Amino acid sequence: MAAGEPLIGLGVSGGIGAYKAVEVARLLQKRGYRVQAILTRNARKFVGPLTFEAITQRPVITSQFAVGMNADIEHIALATEMRALVVAPATASVIGKFANGIADDFLTALYLATRAPLVLAPAMNTVMWEHPAVRGNLATLAARGARCVGPGEGYLACGWIGQGRLAEPDEIARFVDELVRTAVGPLAGRRLLITAGPTLEDIDPVRYLGNRSSGRMGFALAAEAMRRGADVHLVAGPTSVEPPDVTTLTRVRTAAQMHAAVMAASTKRDVVIMAAAVADYTPVGGAHSAKMEKGDGLTLALERTADILADLGQRRAVTPGAVTPVLVGFAAETGPAEDRAARKLVQKQVDLVVANDVSAEGAGFDVDTNRVTLVSRESQQALPLMSKTAVAAAILDRVEALLAPVTATHP
Ligand code: CTP
Repeated sequence: MAAGEPLIGLGVSGGIGAYKAVEVARLLQKRGYRVQAILTRNARKFVGPLTFEAITQRPVITSQFAVGMNADIEHIALATEMRALVVAPATASVIGKFANGIADDFLTALYLATRAPLVLAPAMNTVMWEHPAVRGNLATLAARGARCVGPGEGYLACGWIGQGRLAEPDEIARFVDELVRTAVGPLAGRRLLITAGPTLEDIDPVRYLGNRSSGRMGFALAAEAMRRGADVHLVAGPTSVEPPDVTTLTRVRTAAQMHAAVMAASTKRDVVIMAAAVADYTPVGGAHSAKMEKGDGLTLALERTADILADLGQRRAVTPGAVTPVLVGFAAETGPAEDRAARKLVQKQVDLVVANDVSAEGAGFDVDTNRVTLVSRESQQALPLMSKTAVAAAILDRVEALLAPVTATHP
């Protein structure tokens, strides 16, 4: 696809507002975008492809199976090149297909094939809009990061007055423009590796040693880094909380597996943040293959696990000159954590330690808030009690400052 203005995919599904999508295309072009229109079969009953073709100055995609479609490299490039996928109008049907991963035409397949942000401009009858099935599908899509513009309230084509009316074309174009312009976040082009959750050390097929980490802090960091435009590789232990959408997700169970995953992935990263609560000890010789009997008592022999963060610090120290990542660790203590964090900073040779007293009110494992102090060689910044998302933002602000002098990024 020829370089030039940024490309927007404009999906048009079969609703009475389909004719307004022509105006959306025109307004997006006026704002400096190229527009690739994709019409569903039902959309073509309301508005003709020729109208879009004349406005956008390019062929309109109407079918996945049209002759030439699969040979035409332009269409294949669309999924990777477009900066946003906008669907206006978005019917209950297309919303349902997106939410459930049904790909039975070009538009729904394109949604699965792209990482571009999705903007929906829904339009439907008020009763449909309020139906639990539609609400549920929209909630699913919102959780994946989709944005909705409208619907507005007003006189609907079916004669009802209520919510369900397609947002005005100007509002849709403005919304998309703002989204695309702000999408180039402060961490765009940066590659982050973030760990989260606990590791579990198996004792036998039934028992394990674990800890109470929920993964929430690491997940909040990963989500915030994604919002800031970073490429995020998340290495997560077993968690009951769902991880956010990230570029790459690796699930591990044990400290040894996390060590292997992090050491392998970290060579191509600008930043490594070790938010995981890695087990410090594991049973000597690994897990028993059969369940251990209670008998008269049971003795566990434990050995230290390899310290991942310290190994990263050590590797960075012995490879001067190479592009090495900014290293951030956590120090969870029961009681004031700053002094121990300052010691860990030096011992593990890292740039920033996030110290938290997990026994403090509102801080720790199973809550959505945290109170931390950011400890570096130069300063100790105590933050008030705030949401883990806000803590993540504060940590990433510091990471951005640490990255500022490091211009080289990995390919
Ligand atoms: N860490 C690690 N590998 C381990 C253990 C911990 O990379 N085997 C990392 C954690 O992800 C965290 C930091 O090191 O970033 C925590 O350091 P640690 O010394 O384990 O501190 P705490 O567990 O907080 O405290 P303590 O020293 O009391 O065990």
